[in-house]
Amino acid sequence: MTSPIARVLRLAACLFAALLTLCAARAAAPGPNASRGAVLYHNYCSVCHGDKGDGRSRATGSLSTPPRDFTSEASRQELSRERIVLAIAHGRPGTAMVGWKTQLSEADIGVLADHVLATFIHRAPGAGAPAATAGISGTRAHGGREADTASTPVQVDMTAGLPNGLKGDPKRGGAFYLANCATCHGARGDGAGPRAYFINPKPRNFIEPASRARFNRVALYAAVSEGRLASEMPAWKHVATPQQMADVSEYVFRTFIVPTPAATAAAK
Ligand code: HEC
Ligand code: HEC
Repeated sequence: MTSPIARVLRLAACLFAALLTLCAARAAAPGPNASRGAVLYHNYCSVCHGDKGDGRSRATGSLSTPPRDFTSEASRQELSRERIVLAIAHGRPGTAMVGWKTQLSEADIGVLADHVLATFIHRAPGAGAPAATAGISGTRAHGGREADTASTPVQVDMTAGLPNGLKGDPKRGGAFYLANCATCHGARGDGAGPRAYFINPKPRNFIEPASRARFNRVALYAAVSEGRLASEMPAWKHVATPQQMADVSEYVFRTFIVPTPAATAAAK
């Protein structure tokens, strides 16, 4: 132990360990990726998985297969980074979980997977400190908390595209809307269609500020596809093709949510 060689070896080991710690700290620092993950999650995922990752969102009650609760013990055991990346890229067949490969870059999918892991999955519920056992350093854990607070007040990204690489045609969507949606939601999107009077809860008013702040293409497509249980809002995936749902989502988005002056004038 006291031989010079042992001392040199120990010193070398110490230096190596210090270097490792430094590198780990740098890699795990809550850099721009942490907040980017929070923003992406907010825009593409929270509509179903909830802001807290526990699947408690508006959509939950209406999904035949409920979204994953990322904070559950099962998720902690089953959801590896690889599996999360696969799920985000390709979706889960037969469920509301669609693939985002065509909308999100590989890098963004990775950032999202890390966000889900650090913020929800490897955070012990109720525990003060997120589980450091999963190889996440304290620095990273702190980054997770920061990302969480950032995710709540972030505005919904109104430029986010439709899932599965779908491109909506607002013209075809308009025809579909008038034939299938206007009876409840109204030709003007104000929720006052002829059937609305008989319905409770009332059909969504798309032109009120709360709707305009929330329904980007992602949320519209999810709502159209899955419907709302315990309300008269049908799940259109049983009767409409993904393209038709994309078309009508695009129409609602452009005409009522972010109307151009021309579109607004036409609706009046
Ligand atoms: C329209 C609702 C909806 C949206 C939006 C959505 N998910 Fe999901 N997600 C689901 C449902 C439903 C499941 C459960 C599927 C199943 O049980 O196989 C799920 C499952 C998952 C799983 C677990 C997959 C597995 O292998 O078990 C992960 C991870 C996931 N979602 C991540 C995300 C991320 C990240 C986003 C944002 C890019 C996202 N989801 C957007 C509904 C959604
Ligand atoms: C039979 C009446 C009816 C028809 C037809 C109908 N909806 Fe709805 N829709 C509703 C009701 C009621 C709600 C509100 C449900 C709630 O607040 O829980 C709703 C809610 C919505 C929402 C918001 C969901 C949310 O998360 O709050 C969207 C988006 C929507 N509808 C789009 C459409 C589109 C697009 C069509 C046509 C393809 C359509 N709806 C057809 C009754 C209808």
